[in-house]
Amino acid sequence: MHIVPGDIMDCWGLCRATLIAEAQHALVWKVHARDYGSAALKLYHRADRGNEAASTRLLSLWQDRGAVAIYAEAGKAVLMEWLEGPTLGDIARDGNAESALQVFSEMAHRLHQKPTVAFDELRPLHEVFNPLFDCTFARDCPDALQRDVIRATELASNLLTSQPQVVPLHGDLHTDNVIQTPSGARVIDAKGYLGDPAFELANALRHPNGMPDLVRSRDQIERCLQLYSGALGVSRKRLAQWAAAKGALSIMWRGHGTVSAAPEATLLNLLLRAADQ
Ligand SMILES: Nc1ncnc2c1ncn2[C@@H]1O[C@H](COP(=O)(O)OP(=O)(O)OP(=O)(O)O)[C@@H](O)[C@H]1O
Ligand SMILES: [Mg+2]
Repeated sequence: MHIVPGDIMDCWGLCRATLIAEAQHALVWKVHARDYGSAALKLYHRADRGNEAASTRLLSLWQDRGAVAIYAEAGKAVLMEWLEGPTLGDIARDGNAESALQVFSEMAHRLHQKPTVAFDELRPLHEVFNPLFDCTFARDCPDALQRDVIRATELASNLLTSQPQVVPLHGDLHTDNVIQTPSGARVIDAKGYLGDPAFELANALRHPNGMPDLVRSRDQIERCLQLYSGALGVSRKRLAQWAAAKGALSIMWRGHGTVSAAPEATLLNLLLRAADQ
């Protein structure tokens, strides 16, 4: 059973903690905070918050663009505004994928239409992608997947050395990280990267979670590439290339550095085809 450490409860005047999400890197609790009322407490497993510590500063800078308000942070813990409502991923899974997509791309546009001053703690994209260049292949890794990961790695290398601009990026902007509240859509869960704006919606092509048929439909991939490149004002081809590169990186992450047969192989192949067009 998970319990919020007493010192965190005392320090921030919290009570009534209810666990609402168990994520790979963190637990999320709904709490009542003496100074704020309802709030969300995210407790990371690691003290460096999995290299995400800079993300709260970026979210604070973006508060007037729709990002969640950060109330306090210390060590592994972040206390933030409670956002009532379904994620855009939930709305899509509920049968309204089209409207979720519209709201989502408007949010991406809103985050990036004005420049954001870069700051040191953000992680450069080349650092994020570095492990991909050292990945190994399991003996039973299908040849086609191995070829695709090698091709995506070449793309990543070219993209990293030809970034037209380097800007602060949310880094994990997708439909399950946007909550539709009664007062509008709000963004959570940033990584805080620094790099090419065309990377920003690369991971969105792998979402919504739990809708593999939609995500793998060629029409849907093309539609998202058009919509997202328009929202960010970037090249469709570069966005497709980043999507393939991120797809390979995710497969590698899942295997902790070793690529083996993965359900995401089909999507990677489709993204590479889209990147070739
Ligand atoms: N401020 C908030 N208000 C309400 N619910 C929230 C808030 N922050 C997070 N949640 C809920 O918790 C879930 C998980 O949070 P979050 O997206 O931050 O982490 P994650 O993606 O699961 O984990 P990781 O950081 O490991 O990638 C969200 O999908 C949402 O349902
Ligand atoms: Mg998330």
